[in-house]
This record gives sequence, C-alpha cells and structure tokens, in this order.
Amino acid sequence: MCGIVGYIGARQAVEVIMDGLSRLEYRGYDSAGVAVNDGREIVIEKKKGRLQLLEEELKVKPLCGCMGIGHTRWATHGEPSDANSHPHSDETCSLAVVHNGIIENYLEIKSELKKNGVVFKSETDTEVVSHLIDFYYSGDLLDAVYKTLERVRGAYALGVIHKDRPDVLIAARKDSPLVIGVGEGENFIASDIPALLKYTKNVYLLEDGDVAVLTRDTIEVYDLQRKKVSKELTEITWDLESATKGGYPHFMIKEIYEQPHGIKETITRRLDENGLVRFDDIKLTREDLAEIESIYIVACGTAYHAGMVGRKAIEKIARIKVETDISSEFRYDTPFIDEKTLVILVSQSGETLDTLAALREAKKRGARTLAITNVMGSSIAREAEHVIYTWAGPEISVASTKAYTTQITCLFMLALDMAFKKDVLDLESYRTLLEKLKEVPEKIEAVIENEPQVRQIADKLVNVEHGFFIGRGMDYCIALEGSLKMKEISYVHTEAFAAGELKHGTIALIEPGTPVIALATQQNLFEKSISNIKEVKARGAYVIGITVEGNTLIEQVADDVLYVPRVDDLFAGLVGVVYLQLLAYHVSAMKGLDVDKPRNLAKSVTVE
Ligand code: M6R
Repeated sequence: MCGIVGYIGARQAVEVIMDGLSRLEYRGYDSAGVAVNDGREIVIEKKKGRLQLLEEELKVKPLCGCMGIGHTRWATHGEPSDANSHPHSDETCSLAVVHNGIIENYLEIKSELKKNGVVFKSETDTEVVSHLIDFYYSGDLLDAVYKTLERVRGAYALGVIHKDRPDVLIAARKDSPLVIGVGEGENFIASDIPALLKYTKNVYLLEDGDVAVLTRDTIEVYDLQRKKVSKELTEITWDLESATKGGYPHFMIKEIYEQPHGIKETITRRLDENGLVRFDDIKLTREDLAEIESIYIVACGTAYHAGMVGRKAIEKIARIKVETDISSEFRYDTPFIDEKTLVILVSQSGETLDTLAALREAKKRGARTLAITNVMGSSIAREAEHVIYTWAGPEISVASTKAYTTQITCLFMLALDMAFKKDVLDLESYRTLLEKLKEVPEKIEAVIENEPQVRQIADKLVNVEHGFFIGRGMDYCIALEGSLKMKEISYVHTEAFAAGELKHGTIALIEPGTPVIALATQQNLFEKSISNIKEVKARGAYVIGITVEGNTLIEQVADDVLYVPRVDDLFAGLVGVVYLQLLAYHVSAMKGLDVDKPRNLAKSVTVE
C-alpha cells in the first residue's frame, strides 16, 4: 500500500527519498511524488505511474534541498492521477503533506473548508489535512498539526513540512505504520524499514498517537496530549541484502526458494533441550489452556488460508474446537467470544488494518489474543497479548509464499504444544509428529528441484483464461491458496473447490480443455479424489494431478502429474503447495507480467 519516506540532513533529500521509495515499490502503488523545502519555498513534483516516470521528470526539473518528503500512492479516494498523487499542499503551497491511511470524516471537513473559500485541487481525503494545517497555522507548525489531528478521524501516517521551517520535519501516526530512522546529523521517516536500511539500522517504532518532531540532530516524540514520551531504540538485525533479489529475476522466486531454510529456522530455533517445542514469546501455560474452550483464527488472504490449515492441525492434534474467520467479516459479525476464547491473528505484515481491528475487537470482548506475524514491532505484534514470530525474513513480493509456509509451520508447532499440554498427545506421538515436521524442509527442496517439470506445465497454461483447483480436506485449504496465487499474479481466473462439491453446480463450467489442478495428497481420501478427477476428466478437463510418490494410479486419470515426496498426510499440503506457488510464478513470468507487483494490489493493506 502507500509508502512514505522523509529526510532531514545534509544530503540532497530527493536522492534519499527516491532511493527509499524504490525500496517500498513492492508495497504496490500507482503514482508517486516528492516535496522539498529548498530554503525559500516548498517545491513539489508528482506523477501518475511508476517511480521511473517521476525520476525522469526530476532530471528535467531537479529539486534541490536537504529536507523533504516523498510518497508512493495506492489509490483509494480518487483515481490514480497527477492531481491526486501526494504530496498535497495548501492553496499557496506553503506546506506539503504525505499521508497513508484514510481520513474518514474528510467529506464533512472538506465542505466546511469549501464554505470558507478553500479551493481543492484533488479528490483525495488527504488534501483536507494540508488545508487544515494551513488553516490552523499561525507560526507554530507543531500546534497546527496537533489541532488538525484533533479534527480528523480515521487512520494516518503523516509527514509534514513547511516553508517557514526548513529545520523541522513532523511525523504522526495512528493505525498506519511509521518508523523513524536515526542517523548522525540526519534523520529519516519511513512507512517501512527497507526504505531506511541503506542509511541506518537504528529505528524508533512510532506508536498510535505519537507525534514526532525531527531536526537534523534531534528527535522528539510526543503523545496526543502533547506530553513528551521516551522511545526505545530498536536495532534492525537484517540487512539490505536480505531485502534485495540476490541474483534471482524476481523476489517471489527467491522467496519460494528460501522456504526450506525459513521453515527449518522456524522449527529448530524453537526446540528446547528435550527437543520439544518451546515458544519463548508466548506464555500459555497448562492452566491457561485448560481455561480455553474455543479458538478463533482470524486473518486475510493468504494468511487466512494458513489459518484454515491451522484449524485442521489444532482440531486434529489438540482436539480443541477452532473457528476460522476473515478479519473484515469477524469484526462486524457477532462471534461467540469471551475470556474463555483464544483469538489467533495471523498476519505477515502485522499491519493489515482489518486484522488489527479484529484483534482490538477480540480484546474488547475479553478474549486472550495471540499474533502470528513476520514483522517485529508491527502493530499487531505489539497489541496482541502473545506473539509468535515466523522468522521468514523480509517478504518483499506482494504474493506471499515463505510467510505463508512459516505461518503454517508455527500453527503446527502450536497444535503440538497445545496437545501435549492438554494431555491429548503422548510424548512418543508428539516426538514422532515433530520429527515428521522437521522433514518438511528437505521435502520442499525436492519439490523445488522438480521446477523444470512445473515450467513445462506452466507453458500449457499461459493462454488459458479460466481454471479450477480442487482438493479434499487439507488439500482443499491448499487449493484455495493455489487459486489465489494464480489469480493475483498470473491474472488467470481460477476458483478452488472442495473436490466433492464441484458436481453440485460448478461442474457445468468444465469444457474440453478446462484446466483442473487436482490435489490428492491425503491417503485416506485418495480414492475419493480419483473419483472426482474422473468426473472432470469425463467432461474433457485437462487435469494436472498433485499427489505423493507411489500413488501412480493417478497417472491413469490425470494428463500431467506432479509428485510430492512421501510425507505424513498432515504435512503433505505444506509441501505440495510449493508446486502451486511455482506454477503461478512461471505462468506470470511467461506472460511477462510484473510478478512482484501485480496490478491493483498492495503488500500491506492498511485500509479497510
Ligand atoms: O500482511 P498480511 O498477512 O496480514 O496480509 C494479508 C493479505 O493481504 C495477504 O496475504 C494477501 O492475500 C497476499 N497478497 C497474498 O499473496
């Protein structure tokens, strides 16, 4: 989603800002802009389209100055256009504002300002912020920002500069991430850490309600009551290299390849001296667990699909009733939750607004909360009672892969831990299952080695417009994820179905040549899955079967078969899904699409 970078120091601000924005490109955007204070006035340059277009514009009209703000916009209010791009300003261009989030009461404020004669240049919600700051400004920029924040409702991460204050950059946050990078004789703001890594690894993570005043040499943070707050410096442990492609053509394929390592880390770093699961970051004791009567797993998109697998894992291994819900639905439903409920929020970014809102709703109702997230210090990590970090490393590609498989790994480990603490799993079975989970990374390596076969199959799918993914049980959860991957990066319209459900309507859509990707990794459901494959085959479908080695019977019904190495039924989906990631990746790459930054999408969805 939108990206913010701001700089104050001795360098040319535009260079730092453009470099930082380029590192946030993965978040998804449709226009970009920068504003600098050149010592006399605020100069703004902004453009619809890719950063490169803005870069070319800046070569013709360079902006000089050592402090400024920049933004990549993902349109919400108003189409992608030069006028709607950030930064926004007041009528005399005395200030500039960049904003992530949504100002919910902007229409009301806009009509008020219009009555006072203010002329708006864009359709955005953000523009009310710049006019309000100007309206309240009488020589004290911080005061004007505070008065503006008192008026607006909604979510914001803001960067503000004013022509009268070439020495000050103001930032504010509520429900949209913003960090401050701490340098020597220079300071930075950014909506995400990769934008800063070239310059510093020391950051302050702003909390909701924080307002920060940056000069070259100082950083002061205040709360909404204008009281100074002290912040703890966080040192980022990963480097720029882990946020670059490292020789791969796209981040997505790099991240697919990183999965065996990520899963191995996720498991081995959490084993105690007895080789059993130990979560340092959660404190759910036997007594706590005894009080928990039900569990909700709440998430969006791919993280939701991981939650579906988690549900099966916890129900099967720990025998606790689990519901799954999509975050944006959960918060407006009437879920049965109270202090005897554990709500697990799954989120790669830890910033997805719907999941954050679901977490707050769960807390309000007294539930215990546990976050599974990849980003340390993210909003969801900070607000949940317990946190499990996935340790997948930075995931840059919009399409989630390694975060998803490490989320599933964490959920399996959680299921084992819970089962043991609830005495529903004896020590021997616990160890056996854990050993099998530990084999997953090498099984995924074998799947990745089979990439040339996936590429051949992808070649047959390059020109298709529609397709289906089918599977039973755990395979159905995986089918949903495979279908989402194909849609989001390859723009092939696919749907996923529980294989037994197809004949209740959707089978009408199967025509000669319709691709059906059929997962049949569950031994106890294998024969039933074969019957479902026969049903679509009889209607002329082109079937790509995915099963475990040894199930050669599938070759009699499928046109192409991808084999997963022998693995326990519980973990077969976790291994098999890598085929689906590779398939979507190659179809997208063969079509020449922007694999890492698919159209209309954003990496971190910080609006409702
Ligand atoms: O950061 P989160 O895990 O909360 O994000 C949730 C979804 O937006 C995300 O998984 C999305 O579906 C991905 N683009 C899928 O690849």
